[in-house]
Amino acid sequence: MIAELFAWWRTDCLPAARRLGYRREAAALVVRHRRLGRHWADHLARTRAALLTSARQATRARDAPKRAWIMGAGLLHDVPLDQLLDCFERIDLVDVSFAPAAHDAARRYPGRVACVMQDVTGLIADPLRDPRDATPPLPDDAWCASVNLLSQLPLLPCDALLQQGLAEPEVERRGRALQHAHVEALQKAAHACLIIEYAQTHPPPGPADMILLPGLPERLGASGWRQHDSWHWPLNPRGETELPEGRAMQAWSR
Ligand SMILES: C[S@@+](CC[C@H](N)C(=O)[O-])C[C@H]1O[C@@H](n2cnc3c(N)ncnc32)[C@H](O)[C@@H]1O
Repeated sequence: MIAELFAWWRTDCLPAARRLGYRREAAALVVRHRRLGRHWADHLARTRAALLTSARQATRARDAPKRAWIMGAGLLHDVPLDQLLDCFERIDLVDVSFAPAAHDAARRYPGRVACVMQDVTGLIADPLRDPRDATPPLPDDAWCASVNLLSQLPLLPCDALLQQGLAEPEVERRGRALQHAHVEALQKAAHACLIIEYAQTHPPPGPADMILLPGLPERLGASGWRQHDSWHWPLNPRGETELPEGRAMQAWSR
């Protein structure tokens, strides 16, 4: 509790996002990352490796981007910043919340690394907006990455909609539309990487996997994306919660 309070105090957050609970969520993630470091190490290493594979592939293209736009990077747990600086002249870390590590990196590399405080859905200030109109466009000259973010995007805006009295099926429809708009925005980038939590898993004899993003791999495969890695993330290992659970992860690039 005290650790979370301290992490909360050190986390910088967009005011509208703070009202929906993002600062609290970011602080909780920082503390869990510290507590579960041993269990999460492989997942974080695989995420970093997938980002590097995608970035290096972009640098080999004829229109190689000089800039990286990395969404969900404000805590800097899973971004191989130093190696990515060998690939790009400038790296924008995009998030609604920033841990001190991200600000320290921006100070360490002035003019090369920046913290961009932006809501990538455009819905946090007004969750009732249409996601297709609200999503801010991505820079068209950058390698754009979305890092373990897609399943998180609808959670707090959808909570806010439920609290406003919207019916659950309508809230679910809006959550899916918001995720669709995020993938559509990435689809327009010249080079992109998308790392997703595809399914919720339970060790045997637990319940069957629950698909979190039904149909998405098929849609990505049909629109020019290539899956280049998959792995398992023991998100809540045995002892952490009553029913241990994990995530089936996938890394895609185009
Ligand atoms: C589950 S974390 C992803 C893991 C993260 N890359 C790390 O370093 O641990 C989700 C991140 O996305 C950010 N985020 C969630 N919704 C966002 C939004 N609408 N716009 C920008 N960032 C968002 C959160 O603040 C958080 O830092």
